[in-house]
Amino acid sequence: MRLQRRGRYAWPASALVSLIAATTLVTGSAAQAAEVAEVVDPAANPSVETRCPWVGSDAPVEQRIDQLVSRMTLDEKLDLVHGSAVPFQFVGPTYAGMISENPRLCIPRLGLSDGPAGVGNGHTGVTQLPSPMALAASWDADLASRYGATIAREARGKGADVVLGPTVDLLRDPRAGRSFETLGEDPHLTGELAAAQVGGIQGEGALAQSKHIAAYNQETLRNLPANDSIVDERTLQEVYLSPVQDVVDAGTASVMCGYNRLNGVHACNNTYLLSQVLKGQFGFDGFVTSDWFATQASHAAANAGMDLQMPGGCHYGPRLRHGINSGAVTTSKLDDMVSRILRPMFRFGLFEREKNGSPDDVVTGPDHAAVAREVAQKGMTLLKNDDALLPLGDDTGSVAVIGDAAGERVIGSGGGSPHVIAPEIVTPHDGIAERARRAGADVTFDDGSQAGEAAGAADVAVVVARKWSTESKDNKDIRLSDKDNEMIRAAAANPNTIVVLNTAGPVEMPWLDDVAGVLAAWYPGQEYGDALASVLYGDSDPGGRLPATFPVSQADLPAADKDRFPGGAYDEGLAVGYRWYDREGIEPLFPFGHGLSYTTFGYSELEVDGDGGAGTTVTATVTNTGERAGSEVAQLYVAHPESAGEPPKRLEGFRRVELEPGESERVRFELDERSLAQWDVDADQWVRGAGDYTLSVGGSSRDLPLTGDLAVADEMPVSEPTPPPPPGAPKGDDPAWTKIGNVARCPVESLYAGMIGAISLFGLPPGEQATRPPRNPTDEG
Ligand code: NOJ
Repeated sequence: MRLQRRGRYAWPASALVSLIAATTLVTGSAAQAAEVAEVVDPAANPSVETRCPWVGSDAPVEQRIDQLVSRMTLDEKLDLVHGSAVPFQFVGPTYAGMISENPRLCIPRLGLSDGPAGVGNGHTGVTQLPSPMALAASWDADLASRYGATIAREARGKGADVVLGPTVDLLRDPRAGRSFETLGEDPHLTGELAAAQVGGIQGEGALAQSKHIAAYNQETLRNLPANDSIVDERTLQEVYLSPVQDVVDAGTASVMCGYNRLNGVHACNNTYLLSQVLKGQFGFDGFVTSDWFATQASHAAANAGMDLQMPGGCHYGPRLRHGINSGAVTTSKLDDMVSRILRPMFRFGLFEREKNGSPDDVVTGPDHAAVAREVAQKGMTLLKNDDALLPLGDDTGSVAVIGDAAGERVIGSGGGSPHVIAPEIVTPHDGIAERARRAGADVTFDDGSQAGEAAGAADVAVVVARKWSTESKDNKDIRLSDKDNEMIRAAAANPNTIVVLNTAGPVEMPWLDDVAGVLAAWYPGQEYGDALASVLYGDSDPGGRLPATFPVSQADLPAADKDRFPGGAYDEGLAVGYRWYDREGIEPLFPFGHGLSYTTFGYSELEVDGDGGAGTTVTATVTNTGERAGSEVAQLYVAHPESAGEPPKRLEGFRRVELEPGESERVRFELDERSLAQWDVDADQWVRGAGDYTLSVGGSSRDLPLTGDLAVADEMPVSEPTPPPPPGAPKGDDPAWTKIGNVARCPVESLYAGMIGAISLFGLPPGEQATRPPRNPTDEG
């Protein structure tokens, strides 16, 4: 069964967006057009060279920016710092956001397109890649770069300039609706893969917009005052901001601020976050965009460091003009905002580039499908494989494929803005039937209603279970539906039962002891069935390793307490993911980093070389000790001296290797300044504390056969301190009366800002979240 997917993807928010955007357009455009027309009539001066000397110029980017900014009128500057309504999705899928072109000054229009898992926003003719969580399970930075490059090629093919991704939010709690969109629970893994993705996106000439800063880890009540992440400074710096620093170091052109408040101040007008840390401490020189309808202030947001309002422009149109005129926002501040947007536009050659992509173009193709298949395969994580039931061989005479998620209720892509429409999804049933035919096996399909019978009649049963996850609504638990649990229990009457999990992330497995095998497939994109069959039959080794801990029970989660999730108290502190299970002595069901191969690996010869600072290396030998070729992910963890107050260990390096039987490879991890350091809240900087560090290498966070020591004699600062707030920046949130003013002056945007939060209580209507699969996404918890 190959599922054809056609027609319009309709996310009600798009319509809301259109409405608000249209509203803002009406308010600002007429006056602006008049002013521009008065300044110059482009037709009267047709020479671009004379009119716009910054186009095609060899002058340094900063000089070109200065030249252009000095020619801009106030209204032209204001036009550049907010979205325009024109392209929005009344008329069909276009881009998530748009800055209008300025023909007078030869500034091209800027199209911003979702997102982190492929081109979204209702476009068809694109590749439905596996979810970022599946990518994270590959632990493969090179693949992450190609994943980014694929998205960027398609985004540009559709005529967009900015890719709204990668997502650098951590998986703090697997109940989070956007968990499939994260790169897992670990800051180092997330940072490395996101940085590689940025490289891939920008290598194809699109601007990456890394999102969302910071500590945006839930949907419940997002964008409302109640969604306040209370995070201590050390946790913020070491855990949630660490991947942000990585994407900044990788040159991300832009960053999106999130819907949440951070320590009482909305992320999009948070001076500490945007100006002191992102632009100061990290040295970010690109632009900060508000998440859609996340702008809740005008003067305070600009002064705090937010550069671009999306998707409309009340706060950064008329309200910001008022701020400039009244002196609440300085002209040099506005010039800085404008310059930050123009900087990557110049760097990426947008002024010189001919736009030839169009939303109607088909941009997917066999090369991109191959990337989708590779990610799906390398992300498939084999958690259990009793008696080496897998891989299936030619001696398997019959396979029963069970579960409606193996057929028409397959989940290729999660819901909301990261949703991507597949041209066609290869279902598990399709993929297995095709591969089994070549192996001479019979395949039967049952939707789950006769699971016991179907399983009992076959040599091997493959049972596919699913759990839906979407932006806009958190899940209330990490349990499969009762129906799916019963289906698995019924199928388990056959001792040769393999469970395939089509889920966003970790789920409980109350039937684990009854089944022979479990394979986490995540949301694996359009090539799902082929990738699955290839892994089940051993044409490829199951490449995945867990990017997130699977707990025995939801009660074991680090943020199980409702004050933490969705309450917003981040008082588990540094103990995110496996760090929590290690610190609390809780045995996980499957630990972070775990994943089985069809072969076995040995580790030997650990060498540590250096003083613990940047350039320190750790090397180890990995040997394929089994009979088949296979892949392994060697992982390096660091235990800090007890006095440092860290959780028992932190991932600080990983290397994926593919080895033939008997083959060995020396893997080398290079430390950076932060690997052996802690955030010092008094000094506001990273410090490498004195003491004995232990470096361990192995195949999962709970299987580390090699350990070495490194002594740091003297404590030493390893970064510059966070700078103080810039002059004029707000110290906290706007006072209540100003907030009331913000709402009163931008009532339509404020209404939509509130609706973003209200929707999280109910979820979007199932039929409209995605008219593609899954067809009925909210029928289970
Ligand atoms: C809201 C989401 O939070 C963000 O990630 C996305 O890029 C924008 N909508 C645009 O669709």
